[in-house]
Amino acid sequence: MPLDTTSYALPVARTVADLRAAVAAWRKQGLRVGLVPTMGALHEGHLSLVDLVKTKADRVIVSIFVNPTQFAPHEDLDAYPRTEAADAAKLAGRGDLIFAPNAHEMYPQGFSTTVSVSGVSEPLEGQARPTHFAGVATIVSKLLLQALPDIAAFGEKDWQQLQVIRRMVADLNIPVEILGGAILREADGLAMSSRNVYLSPEERKAAGQLNVIVRETAAKVAGGAIIADATREGADRIRALGFDHVDYLEVRDAATLEIFPSGRVTGQARILVAAKIGRTRLIDNMPV
Ligand code: PAF
Repeated sequence: MPLDTTSYALPVARTVADLRAAVAAWRKQGLRVGLVPTMGALHEGHLSLVDLVKTKADRVIVSIFVNPTQFAPHEDLDAYPRTEAADAAKLAGRGDLIFAPNAHEMYPQGFSTTVSVSGVSEPLEGQARPTHFAGVATIVSKLLLQALPDIAAFGEKDWQQLQVIRRMVADLNIPVEILGGAILREADGLAMSSRNVYLSPEERKAAGQLNVIVRETAAKVAGGAIIADATREGADRIRALGFDHVDYLEVRDAATLEIFPSGRVTGQARILVAAKIGRTRLIDNMPV
């Protein structure tokens, strides 16, 4: 199947063979290639990753694939927004190629391999979503091997995912530079997310306070407070906002996501939160 150059303002590859042919043509011209893996429903956060990669690469591929293996059976795979035409319109003048394979192209009959990263995958999201990071690591390793980019960028919004990918790329000697893109926020500080569209107006208002509590909790532990005390108080405040459940509000080593054994911050730290309001699960994180 040749590249689809007529549907949108930028070409679309639907198969790995077409993706590789496009990349090979760029390589022949000596161009540097970047990749921004996404699940679509693009917002300014994704577009900022495209712009970030563009500062270091001549051509940017944006992959759009809602990856079934990173969703548990009870999660929102079917409801996840699929907005390819709108995504392509947003990428016009910014990206150079969309890679939008179907599930069969990525997981053909007989597919049997899982990439699993121990350690950094295990706490936090790994507890709440035990199969999630194996799905992410598997699809990201496939995308990196399919496109073989010089650079790939992932949002810091999924901080733990970024650390899992960095670990995997280092462990498997995948020859790619991984960039983390800063979290983009709405005017009230809510981290941009494709899932924010699920929020009712009332939930959206409460969601805008989540980042405030996280920031204040981070300031407390940075000032020497005992982590367990500060995070317990922060989680109580999040529930008081109207959140139904706080999966975690924790302060961890920024790279390994291990706890600080002394109970106080003694090195590079990150505060991470996941909390559910109505049917929407929100995550956020900040440096401490
Ligand atoms: O962050 C995401 O959107 C996804 O987890 C990713 C990295 C595109 C893998 O499906």
